[in-house]
Amino acid sequence: MTTLHSTAEPGTSAVDGLGAEYQPFDHHGMYDFFARARTAEPVFFCPEINYWVVTRREDILPLLQDAERMSAEIALAPATPLSPEATAILKTGMTAEPTQVNCDPPKHTRIRAVAGRFLNMKRYASLEPEIRRLAREALDELEASQDRGQVDLVADLVYEFPARVLFLLMGIPVEDAPKIKTWADYRLLMTFGNLSPEEQTRGARDMVAYWQYCVDLVSDRNAKPQDDYASFLIEHRHQAEPPLSDNEVTSLVFGLLLAGHETTTNLSANALLALLTHRDSWQAICKDKSAIPAAVEEVLRFASSVVCWRRRPRIDIDVCGVPIPAGSNILLALGSANYDEDIFPEPDRFDISRTNAREHLSFGRGTHFCIGAPLARLELTVLLEEITARFPDVALIEDQTPEYIRTIAFRGPKRLFATLR
Ligand code: HEM
Repeated sequence: MTTLHSTAEPGTSAVDGLGAEYQPFDHHGMYDFFARARTAEPVFFCPEINYWVVTRREDILPLLQDAERMSAEIALAPATPLSPEATAILKTGMTAEPTQVNCDPPKHTRIRAVAGRFLNMKRYASLEPEIRRLAREALDELEASQDRGQVDLVADLVYEFPARVLFLLMGIPVEDAPKIKTWADYRLLMTFGNLSPEEQTRGARDMVAYWQYCVDLVSDRNAKPQDDYASFLIEHRHQAEPPLSDNEVTSLVFGLLLAGHETTTNLSANALLALLTHRDSWQAICKDKSAIPAAVEEVLRFASSVVCWRRRPRIDIDVCGVPIPAGSNILLALGSANYDEDIFPEPDRFDISRTNAREHLSFGRGTHFCIGAPLARLELTVLLEEITARFPDVALIEDQTPEYIRTIAFRGPKRLFATLR
């Protein structure tokens, strides 16, 4: 294919083509934009964020899988440069270090080996009865909130539920959910969004409070071990060589306390939006529960909560004919890969009987493949089983245009107004 691409170097603003048009924080029309990019300019440079954007699955996949040439160190770098005030607050208030998603081998390998002994399929599966109990409780609360005539499926259902599930692994009391969700929201926007300097100051304070919460949790588990993630890491720290330090354990807890619920909150909201706007699919899963796992996979393809992820090449590379210098920032448009017509015929069609939906890249691939993928699938499956059984007639209020959170990577509606019956 002939490719047109920007001739500008990173950091310059003289960019022609799609790089000048791309709105990295705005998810309306994102899939249509990427469809154009895959055909006309599959790799382009976006000066607004100083990133090269890669849109075709066949280009994204090898980059995800190449941990030798591609560093993950920028995975959690602020997408918008932080103000001096926010930087100072973070510098004095926290000592988080790369341990997983933004950490490269060999350190990543050493740490993931221990974390993976706790975060695995067997443990997630053992939580299923508790996840179901939490889903039923969340639906009780949803029903109670319909006094107002309508409900918001985000605020009243999927906002806290995934955090409460994650807390089962972390040994955190459910009462802490509201403050942890607020801290996590800010952390997400500090890392992937474009907050104003004033908002960054507030966000930095929240991140420090969040970090301190994790420091206290790890110190508590050092003194009084429980059956939870931090206690497991402390107990098994010597299985890593050198052993896991307290700061590494705290960084792992800090990392999971974001990755483990912001992702699933947004995925669940995307799932409800997709299924309720494709009523035939909703009715199909109401009628036949066994269709739910395939529906979950199609939601992950059609409306993932993580639509872009980041890498930095260690050497000069060539992607689809476009030279990208070592040390550049690269945004891998996972959401675009999930609509790549070379793999997914009629990608705009939401089709819960699609046989290859699992080929999506929503959980990444290779060294950093999402360690929580089985939990995310399980949580959404249980939630859908419960809500379809209890509220099969739930319907979105007509004529609402979902407003999306503004980040370069996470995608999910802020509100979804609905009636239950
Ligand atoms: C819909 C839900 C989720 C999505 C879309 C998602 C997506 C991702 C993506 C794209 C990555 C990076 C892959 C890469 O760099 O190649 C990742 C990594 C990770 N995810 Fe998830 N995730 C989800 C849920 C979860 C949950 C529930 C947990 C925790 C229980 C979790 C924990 C992690 C961790 C710890 C990593 C870092 C893995 C590593 O670098 O070794 N995620 N996830």
